[in-house]
Amino acid sequence: TRVAILYGGRSAEHDVSRLSAANVLKAIDRTRYDIVPIAISRGGRWLLQQLDRAAAIGDEAAGAPAPEDGPEVALLPGGKGRLVAVSRDGTQPELPPIDVVFPVLHGPFGEDGSVQGYAEVADVAYVGCGILASAAAMDKDVAKRLMREAGLAVARSVTVHRNGKHSFQEIAGTLGLPFFAKPARQGSSFGVSKVNDRDGFEQAIDTAFRYDGKVLIEEFVEGREIEFSVLERADGSLTVSLPGEIIPAGKHGFYTYEAKYLDADGALVKVPADVPADVAEKARDMARQAFQALGCEAMARVDFFLRADGSLLVNEVNTIPGFTDISMYAKALAASGIGYSQTIDVLIEHALA
Ligand code: DAL
Ligand code: MG
Repeated sequence: TRVAILYGGRSAEHDVSRLSAANVLKAIDRTRYDIVPIAISRGGRWLLQQLDRAAAIGDEAAGAPAPEDGPEVALLPGGKGRLVAVSRDGTQPELPPIDVVFPVLHGPFGEDGSVQGYAEVADVAYVGCGILASAAAMDKDVAKRLMREAGLAVARSVTVHRNGKHSFQEIAGTLGLPFFAKPARQGSSFGVSKVNDRDGFEQAIDTAFRYDGKVLIEEFVEGREIEFSVLERADGSLTVSLPGEIIPAGKHGFYTYEAKYLDADGALVKVPADVPADVAEKARDMARQAFQALGCEAMARVDFFLRADGSLLVNEVNTIPGFTDISMYAKALAASGIGYSQTIDVLIEHALA
């Protein structure tokens, strides 16, 4: 089975994706699959990489420029995985076809349904959620509407648009202070700020609007961050992992990008989280419902806030959760008895089913 691992990409989470891919390349069973690493440049070009070089991507990932070399490749529409190289001399040599595409991409153009749509057009199997679930989960505004509609508790929020009206006073009146401003379609806390006052508000929405024309203003929830990995097998059965917890540490006011990836002491990932059994059971049930409410397939990580009174709010659903060293998705599944390479086997089997 030839598996194309896509990584990098056009989103702000380019570097995170490269770290994730480095781990997937480490964990995937190379006796079982032929691996075809394809780096997507920040500009969006698909560049075929050599496996041994690709395996080192984690070392150079943080901040290093994307590989711009390597033959540029494309999947042919309706080609059932036919892959061609686009060479400078105008010839298009055909490469061995791909059986399954594994997008290890985060954020827009990777996790939001676009690459999934490209794979659909190419008529090739791909790992993870389909177009609609990917797009819905990526958009925090749409995702919350769908989850609310399914009866799931989510944090209160107001959606503002770049060209629309927004009043600090009204928002603070509705949500109280502090609150968060988040780009609607973004991951890894890019463009997210905590707002304490009017000045902070103007700055926060300017920052968020740099990433997206639609911004979610969300109430501040006092609580613990508890996360669950959901893995669907080819027969449709769902495994929801044991709970994991993000324990913020050090100077970061919340789980920022720096706390996540740059500061070694920025946060702690604890699996399994120390959560009362009845709360964990309730949350697992909600994780399953959230997965289904968004129409997810194969995998997702469902993130919660757990308040001191035991109440739970779904924070978000990530359809291509991080696979970095510190990432929860594989850790929580491993604690539940499904190892990293087995997880990848399940995902590929699901894609091919
Ligand atoms: N968006 C990051 C990669 C995550 O949710 O894990
Ligand atoms: Mg996220």
